[in-house]
Amino acid sequence: MVTGGCGYIGSHTVVALIENGFEVLILDDLSNSNKEVLDRIKTITGTRPKLLEVDLKNSFLCDNMFCYNKNIEAVIHFAAHKAVSESVEKPLMYYHNNLYALINVLVAMEKYNINNFIFSSSATVYGNPEILPITEQNKTQRPFSPYGNTKKVAEEIIADITNSNKDFTAISLRYFNPIGAHDSGQLGELPNGIPNNLMPYITQTAVGVRETLSVFGNDYPTKDGTPIRDYIHVIDLAEAHVIAVQRLLENKQETSFETFNLGTGNGYSVLEIINTFQKVINQKINYTITERRPGDVPILYSDIAFAKEKLGWVAKRNLENMISTAWKWEQNYRQEQN
Ligand code: NAD
Ligand code: UD1
Repeated sequence: MVTGGCGYIGSHTVVALIENGFEVLILDDLSNSNKEVLDRIKTITGTRPKLLEVDLKNSFLCDNMFCYNKNIEAVIHFAAHKAVSESVEKPLMYYHNNLYALINVLVAMEKYNINNFIFSSSATVYGNPEILPITEQNKTQRPFSPYGNTKKVAEEIIADITNSNKDFTAISLRYFNPIGAHDSGQLGELPNGIPNNLMPYITQTAVGVRETLSVFGNDYPTKDGTPIRDYIHVIDLAEAHVIAVQRLLENKQETSFETFNLGTGNGYSVLEIINTFQKVINQKINYTITERRPGDVPILYSDIAFAKEKLGWVAKRNLENMISTAWKWEQNYRQEQN
């Protein structure tokens, strides 16, 4: 069962799961995605996964999903709202959606005795880290946004359950900065309204939907003054989910709740991303330096050793590939709209 399987990371993961022989059931309320994604998955894999349209905040409906689908072996839980600035304006909406959906799924899993759970977490749980690169042993901090805090609280809830129920096993995957798209140009990121994240803002500026990209501050203590992040290809992330599910199904986990960072270990500044983008697509984009964005930290990048050792997973795709696939998706999507 893949909750939020019609979304950006979920849809790429569904493709990877189908390609690895899994039968997938998607639960999604389509609040930030579209049914069309099922046809796109079919074009890529030859299989149209089943979608049950449901708001997982609703405990009765959530229970029904499990009650009528008794052969579920594992749940990958992507379903959540994810816009950081919106969560600052509407914290209750974020705590309500992200935590109710999580709890309803966990309650149903306990009731129907389903014991394998993968959770979508985020590097945001490390706050502004004192030690770089960030290992899983780094202390977590209260994230600055309510969105980020839903991830931290969710991990605490999952930890309590794995402590109390010895049959229940979980893996939390802390993503760094997912970008890129499927090679086919059929799947990619489609943010609602004005993008908050860097890559979709860049591709929308290059394609002419946005006029100018704002670079939020160039006075950070980094080589060119702009913040450094660990950008990771969404397909690499998807592959890590397949490995994580297999680990749980084959009982290979060493503790009942494991946490892994998913990044490449490489940090790129905002200006490096813009310059590489311009090189890859051979086109200039308009950008201007503006004020810092509140809550941004100077440098975040992952230590990849733990995921490599325990999961046997490393990200394979480089920045050029992340950029060229994101660009192909943006262009394809805009052409389809015309
Ligand atoms: P997304 O918005 O594209 O996908 C989330 C999906 O969940 C959407 O299809 C949405 O319709 C669905 N959903 C939301 N609330 C729901 C509910 N109550 N019931 C049923 N479905 C619901 O987001 P994404 O980028 O694919 O992110 C997937 C997960 O990864 C999220 O939990 C997100 O917080 C986490 N994450 C994302 C990033 C990132 O940069 N994209 C980084 C770290 C963590
Ligand atoms: C953000 C969230 C993080 C969330 C992640 C995925 C914040 C503080 N953090 O990470 O909690 O898990 O998205 O949704 O919002 N930038 C610009 N101009 C833009 C957009 C971004 O200069 O128009 C810069 C930012 O200052 C940052 C970098 O690009 O330095 C990456 O930004 P973004 O893609 O939003 O990711 P994060 O801020 O790392």
